[in-house]
Amino acid sequence: MEKILVLDFGGQYNQLIARRVRENGVYAEIKPYNKISVSQIEAEGYKGVIFTGGPNSVYDESSPHFDKEILNCSIPILGICYGAQLMAYMAGGEIASANDISEYGKTKIYYEKSKLTSNIPGTSICFMSHTDYIKSVPHGFKVIAKTDNCPTAAMCNEEKSLYAVQFHPEVTHTEYGKEILKNFLFEICRCSGDWKMDEFIEKAVAEYKQTLKGKRVLLALSGGVDSSVCAVLLNKAIGENLTCIFVDHGLLRKDEGDFVEKTFGKQFGLNLIRVNAQERFLSKLKGVTEPEQKRKIIGEEFIRTFEDEAKKIGKIDVLAQGTIYPDIIESGLGDSATIKSHHNVGGLPDVISFEQIVEPLRYLFKDEVRIVGEKLNIPKELVWRQPFPGPGLAVRIIGEITKDKLETLREADSIFREELKKADESANQYFAVLTDTRSVGVMGDARTYGVTVALRAVTTDDFMTAQWSRLSFEVLEKASSRITNEVSGVSRVVYDITSKPPATVEWE
Ligand code: XMP
Repeated sequence: MEKILVLDFGGQYNQLIARRVRENGVYAEIKPYNKISVSQIEAEGYKGVIFTGGPNSVYDESSPHFDKEILNCSIPILGICYGAQLMAYMAGGEIASANDISEYGKTKIYYEKSKLTSNIPGTSICFMSHTDYIKSVPHGFKVIAKTDNCPTAAMCNEEKSLYAVQFHPEVTHTEYGKEILKNFLFEICRCSGDWKMDEFIEKAVAEYKQTLKGKRVLLALSGGVDSSVCAVLLNKAIGENLTCIFVDHGLLRKDEGDFVEKTFGKQFGLNLIRVNAQERFLSKLKGVTEPEQKRKIIGEEFIRTFEDEAKKIGKIDVLAQGTIYPDIIESGLGDSATIKSHHNVGGLPDVISFEQIVEPLRYLFKDEVRIVGEKLNIPKELVWRQPFPGPGLAVRIIGEITKDKLETLREADSIFREELKKADESANQYFAVLTDTRSVGVMGDARTYGVTVALRAVTTDDFMTAQWSRLSFEVLEKASSRITNEVSGVSRVVYDITSKPPATVEWE
């Protein structure tokens, strides 16, 4: 399979670069600059290498550098931002630092003709974010783009297939960024673009048919996107040899447990065991109010419940997990040398023995997992569902969890989600929270003293930071009115207008 290496120097857009490459049908892998050598790069047969950005200056002693030999091994390279400066530095150019040259944001750029810039207009807008710049290009290189401030916005040595851009072609603010990446992939690296999700499914199914033949495979199905796609994919390959355990901890949203059971048990005919463990979880959570303690109890109890159920099944050969690519990417600058096995709710079971772990989605980004999910005919509402935390509604009820509070929250949350959907308003995540504040109200002629429900909706790309969503007053009004009318015991509804930071998305 043809592939591109994204050599990670610690930039914030590294995953985005890999995704952009893959959107063109070319498989891309991210590797930290200090975990791969030039000979390994050659041996792996990469069609091209992209040096990423990074926060450093090439002259800093601690800045990440790479073996110069890479420039001589006839693999095309594209350097981006820090990666561009590093290429210039490695090839003998001069890098300078000057605050009056520093550029941030959308910037007008003037291109010259080259393979990298072919078929794009001479003048357009690019996205810049730098203080250092390439003052003089190395011998054998020529400048192929400038801005009003930056003398080398792009450069190349066409003979050696070395290209560098100071700006970020991977972000949408760069007007012809897509074309530049396409030119690199198809004109310069001569890729064919054969990485397609249909083929991914076919290959994975064929592979697991072979390698898992006659083996019993166990999967924890949560109803989230990753484990769902993993389950349907493996079911296609090995059918009833796959057993899925769905632990319903009783902290799911309204009707969610039944929906998962209906979809996977009935529609897809999966070998599914639903464990109704609400009582078990509630008894462990009795009297617990501290958020971290709630999370720990739920994580631990989840594994124990899973183990108890798995032990009933008998011998298991393989444990399958819905790990995806962002879970396993190591940071180029961090010292996390080991790749962690990821589990949403707290670790691997330790009393069930199994010989092998399979992670069919370990090379896919979330959006690719969703495409696979759609191609496997998993219902849209599941494939595109908003994130839902492993500890479920427990982190959306302030204070002790009780059956009654869960019931109140489920109803309020369902109304809010329904109204938002009806109004066709968008937010990346939205839900209700049951606070522990009671307040006085009036209903008919009577005084009430009910609980306060908070509504939360956020708009975000990555959930690391998030804005509170500017929902319309109409939708908030409708949700508030329905919740106070239809959910007994609620006398007040408030809307959370805190972004992240300083708040987190979840209340606990
Ligand atoms: P916070 O609250 O940290 O949430 O701003 C960021 C995103 O992560 C989700 N979240 C979780 N997801 N297990 C999960 O799988 C968890 O324990 C967990 N806690 C928060 C949250 O819903 C939001 O999308």
